[in-house]
Amino acid sequence: MPKIRLILIIAAAALSSAGAVSAHAAGPVKAPFGRVGDETVDAYTLRNRHGIEAKIVTWGATLVSLTVPDRHGKLANVVLGFDSIDPYLKGVPYFGATVGRYANRIAHGRFTLDGKTYQLPQNDGPNSLHGGTKGFDKRLWTAEPQAGEAVRLTYVSANDEEGYPGALTAHVTYRLGDDDTLSIEFQATTTAPTPVNLANHAYFNLTGDFTRPILDHVLRVDAGRFTPVDATLIPTGELRAVAGTPFDFRKAERIASRIEDKDEQLARGHGYDHNWVLDKPSPGAMSLAAVLSDPASGRTMEVRTTQPGLQFYSGNFLDGKPAGAGTVFQHRTGLCLETQHFPDSPNQPAFPSTILRPGETYSEKTVLTFKTSK
Ligand code: BGC
Repeated sequence: MPKIRLILIIAAAALSSAGAVSAHAAGPVKAPFGRVGDETVDAYTLRNRHGIEAKIVTWGATLVSLTVPDRHGKLANVVLGFDSIDPYLKGVPYFGATVGRYANRIAHGRFTLDGKTYQLPQNDGPNSLHGGTKGFDKRLWTAEPQAGEAVRLTYVSANDEEGYPGALTAHVTYRLGDDDTLSIEFQATTTAPTPVNLANHAYFNLTGDFTRPILDHVLRVDAGRFTPVDATLIPTGELRAVAGTPFDFRKAERIASRIEDKDEQLARGHGYDHNWVLDKPSPGAMSLAAVLSDPASGRTMEVRTTQPGLQFYSGNFLDGKPAGAGTVFQHRTGLCLETQHFPDSPNQPAFPSTILRPGETYSEKTVLTFKTSK
């Protein structure tokens, strides 16, 4: 690269990051994150007045980092991710991504809608997981900065893409508030009836030290029931009471305390990998779903959502791959709290419906609130 061009790029980068530091509420700061083929992947950094920073990239509408303070005000990134595009392209287990068209599993990758049967890719044993072989996490989204510290990403999924009916226009808006909330809002419309289930797939580790497992985190989940699964992690259809099981998180519990219990459900998930049926004042109401905290750092995260379910996945399949520059994510060094509809809903008529029809707008919202404890 000619020297003068390099100097100009460095000067522009310095100016834009100086802007990010000094000017709070200046709006999202855009910077290149890498390339996918001929296309540029952009990063948008949102920043609030307490120094909380969320970085979102257009590849997969992915949250690549989220920096929050501990009880002493020390900032650290608390979501697993990489600072370059390469590891994401090599195949990452959905780190921070927006998953769709259908987050979670659909049994045998098959469902029947209005009398017609659709076959999706079976990319997880016999089942379809997180939208198939090339879900929304592996697509380039377009982004538009919004007023305040917010960015709205859009992806148009063609009719029949990954076997799903109808062209689906999906939007996800990330907004960082000065009240230390990160809200993630999903919207979608379709040209033909289709199942839709959109979720953010961030893996959290509130210690900010990704060499440490999440087992000492303390979790509360406001759910009296969960959906037990078969050997391939498809719900059996039962809504089982959590009382008296390792799935009872109605009172805050250390994750480690029961994860190794002899329990058929824990054995099937290799730990926690289940959907909780959230206790809601009314369907679709925004309500508190979970509170996650790390007693060592004092970092606490509250999860509120309009969604009916919460998939708590304790990072059981993390195995150190792929490794980015210096970053290796081992077994249970991150956990997901995926707010979403129940797995396999298109085949489970008793579960809340996930079918979107033309003329309707899919609309769901999840709000993460960061606090610290003494
Ligand atoms: C699923 C896990 C899966 C992980 C990464 C989670 O949403 O529940 O079973 O291993 O995503 O693919």
